[in-house]
Amino acid sequence: MNEWERFFDGYAPQYMSEVFTKNTLAEIGFLEELLQLPKGSSLLDMGCGAGRHSVELAKRGYRMTGVDLSAGMLAEARRAAEAAGVTVEWIQADATKFVSAKQFDAAVCLCEGAFGLVAMGDDSESHDTAILRNIFAALKPGARFVLTALNGLRVIRQYSQDDVRAGRFDPLTLAETHTMEWETPAGKQTVTVREKHHLPQELVRLCGEAGFAVEHVWGGTAGNWGRRPVQLDEIEIMIVARKLPNG
Ligand SMILES: C[S@@+](CC[C@H](N)C(=O)[O-])C[C@H]1O[C@@H](n2cnc3c(N)ncnc32)[C@H](O)[C@@H]1O
Repeated sequence: MNEWERFFDGYAPQYMSEVFTKNTLAEIGFLEELLQLPKGSSLLDMGCGAGRHSVELAKRGYRMTGVDLSAGMLAEARRAAEAAGVTVEWIQADATKFVSAKQFDAAVCLCEGAFGLVAMGDDSESHDTAILRNIFAALKPGARFVLTALNGLRVIRQYSQDDVRAGRFDPLTLAETHTMEWETPAGKQTVTVREKHHLPQELVRLCGEAGFAVEHVWGGTAGNWGRRPVQLDEIEIMIVARKLPNG
């Protein structure tokens, strides 16, 4: 079990009380308007977490598959789907190794759904490249992909040389190393994790190398998605890409 799986398994019951999860309806409205997919279309939600996007999209008539590494997060997702009275296909898998049995009409990987969540010993470039390639392979030709990923511009502006010296920030990979905490009946638990941030052009390159044609690079901070340029200090960047019809 890597550090991220351990963290999300323990933190799962608290996840939906985070402020950044409170804008799901607006996010789904944005996605529907962007993707313009007929009801009944199939969507892959990579790193689906507690299922907030999958469940709402299923409620609106899309056929959803949610993939996540964490059994704890998937248990929350299953409960949410049951409470909403919808059916979602939930798959426990590592996005870096995921091989889809079918091809989808679109895919999303939102709010760092696996992308950028690098295990301590992993190479961040290989990690994220594997995820993008697996999503690409899981899409029908012509299908679109929406990714939100941590904004490297922000961390470059925030971190200092002291943070680099202390090992909190790696200027080569733009990966941040920090401690995550969660509460359990037995008390507070902690785990040290690495989060890779990306520059906009790096995301365009990685998506291109995976086979995607990037259509848009927008500001993608949860709760503040929009068809607008990335702001320097915002948390996330959104990439809208397409698997070309001959892809
Ligand atoms: C911040 S949550 C985002 C969840 C969801 N997309 C959302 O917007 O609420 C990140 C999710 O990625 C999952 N995850 C982390 N590493 C993963 C991996 N290698 N493969 C699949 N899922 C992973 C975690 O278990 C967690 O549920």
